[in-house]
Amino acid sequence: MIRCFIAIELDPAVREAIGRLQARLRKELRGSDSGLRWVRAENIHLTLKFLGEIPDDAVPAVGAAADQTAAAFNPFEFEIAEVGSFPPERPARVVWVGVGHGRSALLELQKALDQALEEIGYPREERPFSAHLTLARVSQPNAGRAVLNVLGNLPQGWAASLGRQNATALTVFKSDLTRSGPTYTLLHQAALVGV
Ligand code: 2AM
Repeated sequence: MIRCFIAIELDPAVREAIGRLQARLRKELRGSDSGLRWVRAENIHLTLKFLGEIPDDAVPAVGAAADQTAAAFNPFEFEIAEVGSFPPERPARVVWVGVGHGRSALLELQKALDQALEEIGYPREERPFSAHLTLARVSQPNAGRAVLNVLGNLPQGWAASLGRQNATALTVFKSDLTRSGPTYTLLHQAALVGV
């Protein structure tokens, strides 16, 4: 079995901006920082579909569904913007950055991918898609309160934009969970080539 997800890879400049944002938040959080597990910037992708464990021999069909989806889209630009936490107005469990410009194109792409995968037997997402990048997961409730506090006190417009990039491909990744964290391996790439 292979643990698998489909995502858009981030450009190095966007990844670096995310790394700097994480460093700044860690500084603001000071003592509470130990109650968070930060996602390594190089491990951050914009995930469109998490498939979970699938048989090894199902990978080619998943790749084909990604190809079929990507073939109907032109590359488009999107912007990484705004930092927030989940659940709203409660002690944070997850710290994320969102997508500004380009969000509706991303949603179209995610819908088409979800549908192509449903046709080959993967259930559709029940929850509405919310484009985000997870920066950190909270492991202690106190840290969750500190996150809410710090984010609430950031100056307006802070992290308003972390950069723009083009979505040019859907990437099928394998995820291996190890003691030192997950490692992701590219299995297949489907280029957005347009109709
Ligand atoms: P997340 O950042 O919101 O946790 C690899 O784990 C990628 O798949 C991550 O981007 C993760 O999104 C996403 N994902 C979505 N649903 C998941 C699930 N049930 N378990 C693990 N990862 C999931």
